[in-house]
Amino acid sequence: MDLTELDHVGIAVRDLDAVVGWYKRMFGAEVVHRERIESDGVDEALIKVAGSYIQLLQPYTDSSPLAKHLDKRGEGLHHVGYRVESCAAVLESVKAKGAQVVDEHPRTGSRGTTVAFLHPKGAFGTLIELVEE
Ligand code: CO
Repeated sequence: MDLTELDHVGIAVRDLDAVVGWYKRMFGAEVVHRERIESDGVDEALIKVAGSYIQLLQPYTDSSPLAKHLDKRGEGLHHVGYRVESCAAVLESVKAKGAQVVDEHPRTGSRGTTVAFLHPKGAFGTLIELVEE
């Protein structure tokens, strides 16, 4: 099995601070990490849940792919991040088995992780992120 943990669920939102406030009010949740991910055009807030995260994502520019996603689909679940030991090895493995990928090569994600995305079209509607810590 190449997936070792559920790393995070990525949730697309329009107002990051409002959503962070809602999670705090509803669940007492605290943000453990915030980051502007320039390669994706998004601002991120991470809430830790045991060994996994809720990744709240708001686009800060209209050219962000996430801005287009919000226009088309609205707010809500955007992707699932699975932890792997080697992003490069798993990416090569799924490509060899015919998976449709968004990233041909691993790239840097938030928290200094190494990530790559599989396209939802080839994965039964789920955008899948491979995350190597
Ligand atoms: Co993610």
